[in-house]
Amino acid sequence: GAGMTKFGELWDMSLRDLFVDAALKAMSDAGVDTLDSMYIGNMSGGQFVGQEHLGPLMADHLGVAGVPAMRVESACASGGMALRAAYFEVASGMSDFVLASGVEKMNDGADVTGVLATASDQEEEVYYGVTFPGLYAMIARAHMEKYGTTEEDLSWVSVKAHRNGANNPHAQFRRVMSLEDVMTSSVVAEPLRLLHCSPVTDGGAALILCPADRAHEFTDQPVKILGSGAATSTLALANRMDPADLDVVELSGTRAFEQAGISPRDVDVAEVHDCFAIAEICCYEALGFVERGKGKDAAKDGVTDLGGAIPVNVSGGLKSKGHPVGATGISQAVTIVDQLRGKAGDVQVDGARIGLA
Ligand code: COA
Repeated sequence: GAGMTKFGELWDMSLRDLFVDAALKAMSDAGVDTLDSMYIGNMSGGQFVGQEHLGPLMADHLGVAGVPAMRVESACASGGMALRAAYFEVASGMSDFVLASGVEKMNDGADVTGVLATASDQEEEVYYGVTFPGLYAMIARAHMEKYGTTEEDLSWVSVKAHRNGANNPHAQFRRVMSLEDVMTSSVVAEPLRLLHCSPVTDGGAALILCPADRAHEFTDQPVKILGSGAATSTLALANRMDPADLDVVELSGTRAFEQAGISPRDVDVAEVHDCFAIAEICCYEALGFVERGKGKDAAKDGVTDLGGAIPVNVSGGLKSKGHPVGATGISQAVTIVDQLRGKAGDVQVDGARIGLA
């Protein structure tokens, strides 16, 4: 089962409302009304809305108090890591019905830039004034220096994102943007402009996992998890071997491909972390969709477009769909589930059988 809230500035929904809405949609989609366990990906409920200890709170408000529930924090990967934890619990044989969810309420008056910066190295970076847009601006500069990537190359990623997002009813921004719109938007952290940045978003997303041999009790279209890879790199960007290469994406991707027994060429559709346009270009390369140094051309040449060799971020990506940080990893998986079930409407990739988030 899969479900998600609309993403956006949702002033009439609280953190718990977002979670319950997404969780009920996933349970209803799956046709289950009991859970053995739940995981809640959330980056910073404490700082965004003053709420920690989400396990019992969310179990209670979902009406399943008593069920073991755990909050998973891994910054913008919180949702992805919650899914991985749920997957392990089912795969281990401990549980049959596990909810993997993610939720974030970013629009509630907090100093969003300051809260997001707590996900980078406080002593080595934040102390000196760097922000997340600033860190990715440095990644962009490193990529430009090493591979000749231009501001126009970054901008084509955003044009593609908004074109896809315009077709996604869940997206925060459903506006088509031209190359000129992107390249004349205001500078946020040079060379990144407003339309190269993901926005500040409220949202929730949820999945129900069960053992593969029970899935047919609930659906004729089960979606199997073939592999899951995770990795860590240095937290401080300055300590990376090469800031232009997302080593952590390469490592986690390689692990997932190995477990699944497939290669990047086998992937029909992918959702990657485009928190800033440069990140998507780095992901193309780190995941092996294109050679290193060729990522800059992929969006411009239509390689990652719908109908291209490897459609990426058909949901509109973080850029247009929105980026409620702790929910993002789960929402990417929800998009992939819709694609593999052939239910993605105007952004359906014909015959998609293998997806990657
Ligand atoms: N993309 C498109 N439009 C955006 C946008 C974005 N990322 N962010 C804001 N807007 C729009 C708003 O809707 C608003 O439009 P309106 O005037 O028509 O209503 C306008 O731009 C100004 O919005 P505002 O909220 O005042 O922008 P801001 O300057 O406070 O914030 C950013 C803009 C880019 C700084 C903010 O979105 C941001 O910090 N993004 C990065 C988030 C981040 O780092 N996430 C973690 C990544 S790892």
